[in-house]
Amino acid sequence: MSKDEIRKKIEDLRFKINYHNYRYYVLDDPIISDSEYDEMMKNLKRLEDENPEFFDENSPTVKVGGVALNKFEKIEHKIPMLSLDDGFDDNDIFEFDRKIKRFLKMSESDDISYFVEPKFDGLSVCLIYQDGSLFVASTRGDGYVGENVTNNVRTIKNVPLKLVIDNPPKYLDVQGEILLTKDEFKRINEERIKNNQPVFANPRNAAAGSLRQLDPKETAKRHLIMFAYYLRDIQGYKKTIRYQHESVEELKNMGFAVSELNKLCRNVDEAIKHKKYLEEIRDDMPFELDGVVLKVDSFELQDRLGFTTKSPRWAIAFKFPAQQATTKILDIEVNVGRTGILTPVAILEPVNIGGVVVSRASLHTMDEIEKKDIMIGDTVFVQRAGDVIPEVVKPVKDLRDGTQRRFEMPNLCPVCGSHIAKDGAYYRCTNINCPKVLKESVKHFVSRKAMNIDGFGSKIIEQLVDKGIVKDVSDIYTLNKDILMKLDRVGEKLAENLESAIQRSKGITFAKFIYALGIRHVGEFVAKLLSERFKNLENLRKASREELLSIDGVGEEIADSVVSFFNEKKNLDTIDKLLEYGIYFVDDKSYGKTDSKIKNKSFLFTGTLSKPREFYKELVEKQGGIVRNSVSKKLDYLVVGDNPGSKLDKAKEFNINIIDEKELLALLEG
Ligand code: IVH
Repeated sequence: MSKDEIRKKIEDLRFKINYHNYRYYVLDDPIISDSEYDEMMKNLKRLEDENPEFFDENSPTVKVGGVALNKFEKIEHKIPMLSLDDGFDDNDIFEFDRKIKRFLKMSESDDISYFVEPKFDGLSVCLIYQDGSLFVASTRGDGYVGENVTNNVRTIKNVPLKLVIDNPPKYLDVQGEILLTKDEFKRINEERIKNNQPVFANPRNAAAGSLRQLDPKETAKRHLIMFAYYLRDIQGYKKTIRYQHESVEELKNMGFAVSELNKLCRNVDEAIKHKKYLEEIRDDMPFELDGVVLKVDSFELQDRLGFTTKSPRWAIAFKFPAQQATTKILDIEVNVGRTGILTPVAILEPVNIGGVVVSRASLHTMDEIEKKDIMIGDTVFVQRAGDVIPEVVKPVKDLRDGTQRRFEMPNLCPVCGSHIAKDGAYYRCTNINCPKVLKESVKHFVSRKAMNIDGFGSKIIEQLVDKGIVKDVSDIYTLNKDILMKLDRVGEKLAENLESAIQRSKGITFAKFIYALGIRHVGEFVAKLLSERFKNLENLRKASREELLSIDGVGEEIADSVVSFFNEKKNLDTIDKLLEYGIYFVDDKSYGKTDSKIKNKSFLFTGTLSKPREFYKELVEKQGGIVRNSVSKKLDYLVVGDNPGSKLDKAKEFNINIIDEKELLALLEG
């Protein structure tokens, strides 16, 4: 190849790779395979290495990181990077809307269209493109002078180094936000814990730390992304852009990633509705959402509104309640869980995080306390999101004053006083009969996704275990109204409901039953895998490690745990008792279908029946009915056989429905 041909080949490859980057990172719609892409990249890299005279700082090969710097050069922004006014409730937004209308001398009843965008919690950068090539990228700094981070920004996969349109503008100034996904943030922190480095408090800090690496190769390893949201200046372009929504569309065409959550709203009410929607989906988003930004959509109106010294009059940032706060660790307690594992829990000075008062937060394991270097008395960052248990992110070491002390795992179980043994990264109570382990097992056993015994709260479980009435989960099926009514705060109605809920729970799917057993590492999903593979208890009990490992989704940890569970005599006895007490398996379709007429109805038998009473008892209980052994005013049916006893007279006295075997069968058949 002649030099000219080589140059053409290099340019062609760069153009194609840029385009495929855009398809992949911006449009999320690639049209070539990863290996084809890698092949092109490899060819380009080779040609560039062999022909250094064709070096281009915006070649897609710089995405892996260029030369390291000693320090970042300062850059003065041509147009200052201002901030936004904040609002915290709907009134602030209505007030913003009214103020704009006053300023523009419009009537209160006129509608102003707003472009509503998510407010990303990252760090903002300004990117300048000349003739379609990235020229310089700078951080916001103090708004007037920022730092030159061009080489680092070049490594960000979804930042276009060349705009992907024909006839790009001569000059383009774009602002966007650089951020990390929640997953990537977690990955980076886990890696830092492993390497004994301090963890980042939040994705924003992690993004800032990642961008401000002097060696761009380090930045390239953190998977930063950028969303563009503000076209600050454009010169020498074929089109005139008149609206914010249009500018964002245009930025997307040029090659920038823009948020899918942006929405053009016709008036302030619609804007508030979209804000509410974004707040609802906040926890499900891959990135941290900080709030929303409302921008007057029309550029003509934006120009008329102009700026104050610190912010535009045409925009407002509405902040969502924070999900993080700092507070003090008053103490660290250990919590004994269902499998006997001790989890350290931080007792916090109560703090309001996004409207919820948090006073406890998980510290996970001893290892994590050590690696994060958390002490009792530390001021710490606490994070909560949605329904997830709050967790301690990191300590603020600068606030230590010498009163802080290290936490040590106790040697004895705080519940039963038995010895604690180390088990991998965990500490565990060695007493298989530890009351706390039993209480937690019962809680799990009765929970909704397990046996689903409604109304069985922790207070009841604690009493049953403490009084020695429930010694393993099978004892639940020996409970009846009379026993339950002896407990504190259990009245007749509750006791009755509980009894029928217990009876109803006997018909269960095999998968739910496996889950209910509380085998370590066997969650809902694995329980389903096991039920599908082994079909019944016999097979599951006998399952070998190899058979278990052959299931897609079952690894060594799970296999070992299942085998050791079924090797334990105590567990086998419990299962036998459960079957004896009448647990039976139903398929998915018939599970929970107890819309029978006799659900929650009580029955009593008297006299000689044609079949053993046990036979009817089982039928009644399968349909959610209850079998009693004495007459009371509340009894629903007395079933009479030959030679009935005194129960019949009593039932007549109380005006109770008296039926025979045939009538009972008719009831059962619905
Ligand atoms: S527009 C004139 N739009 O919020 C300022 N900013 O408080 C124009 N931010 O520094 C900024 N998401 O870091 C704008 N969709 C969005 C944003 C956004 C996040 C950040 C940005 C800015 C700060 C202003």
